[in-house]
Amino acid sequence: MNVFERIQFLRTELRQHNHSYYVLDKPTISDFEFDKLLEELISLESENPEFFDTHSPSQRVGGEVTKNFNTVKHQYPMLSLGNTYSEEELREFDKRIHKLVEEQIEYVCELKYDGVSISLTYENGQLTQALTRGDGTQGDNVTTNVKTIKSIPLQLQGNFPSFFEIRGEIFIPHAGFKALNADREQAGLETFANTRNTASGSLKIQDSKEVAERPLDCFLYHMLGKQTPYDLHYENLEAAKSWGFKVPSETECCKDIDAVIRFVKKWDKLRHDLPYDIDGIVIKVNSLRQQEQMGFTAKSPRWAIAYKFKAEQALTTLNEITYQVGRTGAITPVANLEPVLLAGTLVKRASLHNADQIAKLDIREGDKVYVEKGGEIIPKIVWVEKQDRDLFSQPTVFITECPECTSELIRTEGDAKHYCPNSENCPPQIKGKFEHFISRKAMNIDGLGPETIELLLKKRMVQSIPDLYELKINDLLPLERMAEKSAENLLKGLEASKQIPFERVLFALGIRYVGETVAKKLAKHYQHMQALLDATQEDLENVEEIGEKIAESVVFYFADESNRNIVQRLAKHALQMEVGDEDKAVSNALEGASVVVSGVFKQFSRTELKKIIEQHGGKNVGSITKKTTFVVAGENMGPSKRQKAEDLAIPLITEEEFIQKLANAVC
Ligand code: IVH
Repeated sequence: MNVFERIQFLRTELRQHNHSYYVLDKPTISDFEFDKLLEELISLESENPEFFDTHSPSQRVGGEVTKNFNTVKHQYPMLSLGNTYSEEELREFDKRIHKLVEEQIEYVCELKYDGVSISLTYENGQLTQALTRGDGTQGDNVTTNVKTIKSIPLQLQGNFPSFFEIRGEIFIPHAGFKALNADREQAGLETFANTRNTASGSLKIQDSKEVAERPLDCFLYHMLGKQTPYDLHYENLEAAKSWGFKVPSETECCKDIDAVIRFVKKWDKLRHDLPYDIDGIVIKVNSLRQQEQMGFTAKSPRWAIAYKFKAEQALTTLNEITYQVGRTGAITPVANLEPVLLAGTLVKRASLHNADQIAKLDIREGDKVYVEKGGEIIPKIVWVEKQDRDLFSQPTVFITECPECTSELIRTEGDAKHYCPNSENCPPQIKGKFEHFISRKAMNIDGLGPETIELLLKKRMVQSIPDLYELKINDLLPLERMAEKSAENLLKGLEASKQIPFERVLFALGIRYVGETVAKKLAKHYQHMQALLDATQEDLENVEEIGEKIAESVVFYFADESNRNIVQRLAKHALQMEVGDEDKAVSNALEGASVVVSGVFKQFSRTELKKIIEQHGGKNVGSITKKTTFVVAGENMGPSKRQKAEDLAIPLITEEEFIQKLANAVC
């Protein structure tokens, strides 16, 4: 097998595994094996750029940044659907369309997914464009971001038309949403309130790498174009399924409106068991010929309608407002309710978010309140029954002291939340910090979990994070449920964490707004902890993608003597306080330079050359623009790239000249 054949083989393999995992939900290999194949593909593609393909499975990881999403006109407008809310209205719809077409009419019933609609164009089996709905006439071109969604095929299989459009809904399943929010909480970032807005926001993120990390999924439900294979909507969906699309299996053909109503009633009950949100049922005429006869009104097709479920509400009493303290000291008011059954679950609590929300609702203890479960996972209070209120009831006064440690709360301008400033001694903050420090994405300490942390804190065996590294086996053995083996594992886990790279140590400290990505950027820029400790607000704001809020938070953290002390003690215990050799800066010879590496090289691989550029302070960019400083040109560099460089008068240098240039600059 030559290199090209191997690349093609890997692409086909990965495409199939992707389809099995994300579309069929039946994994065929382990994540580890998948990652190995993907790694091999990425490395072969980077060493052989002449075989680059925008539809390769390697493109799923993202990387391209879109500053402004272009607006593109839809070939067919993206209309909305008329709504119905009762059986009676559904029967009226049935009568209406029977007047338009005096034949037997079969319906297709589908679930109404609660996400954002997307229109995908496929040319010769390849995804070429993805547009949002926009105003219905024109939408945003979000192709780069959509390519990162694993359940959307980049390359179709089977007997597909050469050109067609297919529409569907991008959404976030419950499990992914929960994990995403847990990660955000760990990073000290605000959590998302509902899946729909998060899905829609995710499509507009500029950096597609970040989009690739969002748990987006996509169901397809409408094929358009002159080449759709069948006259029946249902059969077209089945065909789409065979080409690799994720078409939901809950869809059913219904002979008449009675069958439609049975479907609606069934899903009104079952919807709470689904792993994603739906807000209704969509009813469509199955025959495309009949659809065409019925046509459209200005806003929506006459041949389809939505039945919207009522957002379930329940009336209950607000017993008490309590306040939770998070890892970063953020205070969240919580409504403790008289337990009430809502959407299949017993609801006891609802979040009140912050002081503004309490003021807006004018909510008071003892009030009768309506709770609703809409797109949100956590129920919300939508209405306060004020007439029933006691004559002497007083407005809620937000607490001024921390409920856990009595410190006076602070609220800075522009921040919706109140904070407890006592990061060192406030129990939930300490516990949260430990839990974050040991978590998988931070120091990943094997053998140490939240229960052990709780025990160690309770017994006062640890108070500050570095205390973990001073634990001895004889301290641990007397603890409840701590066998010798577990104690040894815990110590081994701590020892192993000393190899965790600097960027993760930085993330593990739990500085507010320093999540994984920001920690990586800071580590790369500052290279070692001391440089970061010395950085001023202004220095930090000059780092690419670090804004005022993050800069302020970093300065605030290191201004605190006790935090500096933590870092110092961790350094003494030999945790990584500088980037590894790979990421180490060698010189600043290329500072400010934007370099394009293109073609095939003799001495180094493209990946190695890019690393060298970074190590000397330069920035790798993908395409030649007038801002490019120079191009390192190898063999087989594409003629159009060469032409572009010449047109813009960008210098082209060879691999040897590049190495020489660096050697001259460094010596
Ligand atoms: S068909 C012209 N089918 O609901 C027909 N839409 O209120 C276009 N939606 O914009 C839509 N599930 O975002 C259709 N099974 C489904 C759907 C669905 C969710 C959304 C879609 C549309 C909105 C209309």
